[in-house]
Amino acid sequence: MTDTKTADVKPVKKINPNAPTEETVLATKHFTDTLFSFSITRPAGFRFRSGEFVMIGLMGEKNGKPKPLLRAYSIASPAWDEKLDFYSIKVPDGPLTSKLQKIEIGDKVLLGKKPVGTLVLDALLPGKRLFMFSTGTGLAPFASLIRDPDVYENFDQVILTHTCRDIDELEYGKQLVQSVRDHEFLGELVKDKLVHITSVTRQDYPLKGRITTLLETGELFDHIKGGPLNPKTDRVMICGSMAMTQDTKAMVETFGLVEGSNAKPADFVIEKAFVG
Ligand code: A2P
Repeated sequence: MTDTKTADVKPVKKINPNAPTEETVLATKHFTDTLFSFSITRPAGFRFRSGEFVMIGLMGEKNGKPKPLLRAYSIASPAWDEKLDFYSIKVPDGPLTSKLQKIEIGDKVLLGKKPVGTLVLDALLPGKRLFMFSTGTGLAPFASLIRDPDVYENFDQVILTHTCRDIDELEYGKQLVQSVRDHEFLGELVKDKLVHITSVTRQDYPLKGRITTLLETGELFDHIKGGPLNPKTDRVMICGSMAMTQDTKAMVETFGLVEGSNAKPADFVIEKAFVG
């Protein structure tokens, strides 16, 4: 005889297919009082293109009810990686980063379901040199792209520039590039192709100045093979503050490069670095 029981009928709860998933913090690393990085689990089926951004955040509350607090963040790990990396500023009274900077291994972080963005290879026409111009945490999408083998298949030279106010703000990028050079597979791929140029604007440093100034004076091109930007051979990706992306875009356009998008690939693409 089978024992049949009637289950309690519960009201059907609507499931939002776009609701963020809850991921686990795998690692955190603090670089300065204002900069840190962290890694979280990557859910099965979470697909993205290297260079894209996604919404991430923490569960907060509003009027006593749980409410997700989400901001756009560039994914700093490459599309092949099994975890997801992020690089963030810490704003003492920032609604999200004031809390996010305190996360520890095992904590939960919310991850949106729809990565998007224009700093992707698909938005650029084929070329020989790929320039990535970044300031501050605008380095993050390039932390993803410089670890993507497709970048080295598509370009002969990959030039990553990172400009910060102070020397210690360059540390994440320096450690990252070193880890790429030391990587058992990537190391060989990047050996003759990846050039990392760092500059600082508010302290003494071998290379001083904003990226816009280095482009205008031509000082940037003293450090790489092939001379000034040329729309026939060169492609550019730009990521930094709103002012930096606009001014660098204007400077790049003086060399004759044309802005592209996912829908219409061309010579350069821009994305504002997100502030948490
Ligand atoms: P500077 O020190 O001359 O302002 P921020 O933290 O403000 O985003 O700045 C990060 C880096 O970007 C700094 O080195 C800063 O230089 C530089 N920067 C700020 N605004 C611009 C801009 N409009 N164009 C190019 N670089 C900029």
